[in-house]
Amino acid sequence: MKSDKGSSRLTRRDFLKLSAVAGAALTLGGGGASAIMSALGRDQSTAAASESDKHPFYGARQSGIVTPQQKYMYLASFRVIAESKGELSAMLKEWTKFSTLAADGGHRQDSGSNLLPPPDTGESVGLGAANLTLTFGFGESFFAADGKDRFGINHRKPLYLQSIPHMPKDHLEPSFQAGDIAVQVCADDQQIAFHSLRNLIRLASGKAIVNWMEEGFISVPDGGQTPRNLFGFKDGTANLLHHSDKGYNDVVWAGQSEPLWMQGGSYLAYRKIRMLLEVWDRTSLKDQEDTFGRTKESGAAYGAAGEFDAVTAARLPADSHVELAKQSRQSIHRRAYSYTGGIDSRTGQLDAGLLFLSYQRNPQEQFIPMLRLMQSKDRLNEYTQHVASALYACPPGIREGQYIGQSLLEA
Ligand code: HEM
Repeated sequence: MKSDKGSSRLTRRDFLKLSAVAGAALTLGGGGASAIMSALGRDQSTAAASESDKHPFYGARQSGIVTPQQKYMYLASFRVIAESKGELSAMLKEWTKFSTLAADGGHRQDSGSNLLPPPDTGESVGLGAANLTLTFGFGESFFAADGKDRFGINHRKPLYLQSIPHMPKDHLEPSFQAGDIAVQVCADDQQIAFHSLRNLIRLASGKAIVNWMEEGFISVPDGGQTPRNLFGFKDGTANLLHHSDKGYNDVVWAGQSEPLWMQGGSYLAYRKIRMLLEVWDRTSLKDQEDTFGRTKESGAAYGAAGEFDAVTAARLPADSHVELAKQSRQSIHRRAYSYTGGIDSRTGQLDAGLLFLSYQRNPQEQFIPMLRLMQSKDRLNEYTQHVASALYACPPGIREGQYIGQSLLEA
C-alpha cells in the first residue's frame, strides 16, 4: 500500500504555509509546534483499503475515463478566483496531494492539536478506497475570460476546446456556467466520493469556488451487466465496440496534433438531460422500444437476438436514438449517471434524468455532429430536455512528483 507522507524537510515555504494554518496554535506554545510537525507528516493511508479496490492516481492516463463505472459520481465545476499562476498552482499541488492520498484510501491525519480544525473532514475514515477516481478537466474560461489571457496559457489552449454550440432544443438554465475547472469524482461508496469532493472544495479556499455540483448514481446488476437508466433501458452497451487499446486510441485519447500537455488526454462533454418520466411512463412499450430501436428487457437491437449482437441500421426506426447515433458515423465513450433532484415545485413532477458524460478525442468531429443530428430528429426529444451543457479538456495522467495541470501551466 502506498502512502503520501509528504516531505520530511521543512522548507521556508512550507513553514510559512503551515504557520498561516497553525497560527493560532503557534501562539499557544508547545501544542502549536507539535501541530506543525504533525501536519507535515499528516497524511495517512487507511489499513482498511485493500489493493483490489484502488485506482492509483498517478499513471499515463487519468483514471475515471475508461475505468469501469463506479456506482456513484459527483461532478463539480469550479471558478478560479486566484489571480496569479503561483496561487493557482499552489491549489493544484494541494489537490494532487489529496487526490493521491484519497485514491489510496487514505485521509489527512489530525494535526495533533485539538485547538485546530482537523485537516481532514473525517467521514471516510475506515471506509477504504471503494475504487475512488478523481478526474480533472479545464474549461474554455480557464484559458481566457473576458478577452483576458488569465494565466498566460491561452496560446496552449487545446485544439477542440470550444463551447458546445447552442442547440435548437436546448433549455439551458440561464445561470449555468461551465466554469474553469471540472472535477469528476466516482466511487462505489457515496460517502467516500463526497468526502473527496468536500475536501477539494475546502483545499480550494481562497483560490477557487465551487459553481455547482451534481450527483449521480447507477446500479450495476450482478455479473457486471450493463446498468439501466431511468427509462429502464440498458445504457452503455455500445461502449463495448471500442473496448480495446486501439479502440480507445481511436475514440478517446487526444492525438499528436494537440499541444504536448493535452496529448493522451481526452475531452469531456457534459449534458444534464432531464427525463420526463411521467410522460415516458404513460407511453406504450412499443413506443418506448421504437425510441431506441432496442428491446427493453434484453437490450438487443431490433432484428438481433442478444444485447451485444451487431446492429442492422435498416431494421431500426428512422428517428430512433441508436439509428441516429449510427448515422452520425462517429463513436464516443459514454459514462452517464442517473440523477434525481426531488420534485419540480412548478409542476409537481419528478426532477430526474441523466448526467450524460462522454469522453472523446475530438468533440467537434465526434460529439457535436452527433448531438446536432439527434437534436433535429431523435424521437427521444419528446421525453427529454437538455438543461446544462459544458465541455472540458482533461489532460493525461501525471507521474509521482508532478501536479495536476503542471505541464500546461509550466510548459
Ligand atoms: C437522456 C438522454 C439519453 C438517454 C436516455 C440515452 C439512452 C441510450 C440508450 C438506451 C442507448 C442504447 C444502448 C447503448 O448502446 O448504450 C443509447 C445509445 C447511444 N447513445 Fe444515448 N442516451 C441519451 C442521450 C445521448 C446523447 C446526448 C448522446 C450524444 C450526443 C447519446 C449518444 C449515444 C450513442 C453514441 C449510443 C450508441 C449507439 C450505438 O452505436 O449503438 N445519447 N443511448
